[in-house]
Amino acid sequence: MDLGLKGKVVIVTGGGAGIGAAMCQTFAEEGANVVIADFRPIEDTVSYADKLAQKYQVETLAVKVDVSRPDDVKRLFAETVKKFRTVDILMNNAGKMGLNRIEDITIEELQKFERVNIEGLFLMSQAMVKLHREQKREKSWIVNTISKSAFSTNSGGNSPYIATKGAAAAFTRGLATEVGREGIYVNGIIPGYVVTETTKNIPNAKERSEAMTKIIPVGREAEPKEIADVAVFLCSEKACQVMGVLMDITGGTML
Ligand SMILES: NC(=O)c1ccc[n+]([C@@H]2O[C@H](COP(=O)([O-])OP(=O)(O)OC[C@H]3O[C@@H](n4cnc5c(N)ncnc54)[C@H](O)[C@@H]3O)[C@@H](O)[C@H]2O)c1
Repeated sequence: MDLGLKGKVVIVTGGGAGIGAAMCQTFAEEGANVVIADFRPIEDTVSYADKLAQKYQVETLAVKVDVSRPDDVKRLFAETVKKFRTVDILMNNAGKMGLNRIEDITIEELQKFERVNIEGLFLMSQAMVKLHREQKREKSWIVNTISKSAFSTNSGGNSPYIATKGAAAAFTRGLATEVGREGIYVNGIIPGYVVTETTKNIPNAKERSEAMTKIIPVGREAEPKEIADVAVFLCSEKACQVMGVLMDITGGTML
């Protein structure tokens, strides 16, 4: 199926690793030009951007950004528009994860979750909506990476993450209602257990993974590419009746 994404311009936040990196690869495979926005060392992001450009013959741009900082978000959109003239698709994928027990969490730590998972999502989406209106675009797409934890969890000790991802889910539906009629498709994806460098390195990762596998109906954790394939589909014309959904990609875990 041709998704019709050739030549589209996509920003992927947190595109330097894990699910975001897989999204960048999948868009590049489809012939889209990819802006990798990540706060990891810029040399790493540039190197990944160059690799994708060479392999898939697309144009890429690497930008060092903290999505929770208004000036960074402004600069990201300015650099992208300078190089590509517009933005068709925004993947709000960067997120702060972590386990924090309620008795230990400080207000400063809680605010870090809020800044990335809520304020970053808000600032990026706001910039995208403004650009859509300024350029009188016919259609644009925003996909937010939420998490199964916002709806069901058995980990314990991650209430700041759960709370902020719950806000991200509510924000996604609210924004779809607010801007959907203008041609802005706003949807969310809900990954469950995904194997990334981050999840491989959490305490008791192996035991946790074995326990999780038992409760996942498809019988295994997801690879980042399996999340990216669904997310990228949501940004295509083939998904033109999909608005404001929170797409369960948990292998049935939430059943
Ligand atoms: N891995 C999972 O099992 C899982 C499950 C459900 C949801 N998620 C969500 O998926 C998204 C990606 O997770 P992942 O597992 O691929 O993570 P990851 O740690 O592998 O990669 C995240 C990337 O985002 C970047 N990043 C983090 N904060 C940023 C910020 N403020 N500004 C810019 N870049 C930033 C990091 O540098 C990193 O490159 C997150 O929103 C996460 O909450 C992950």
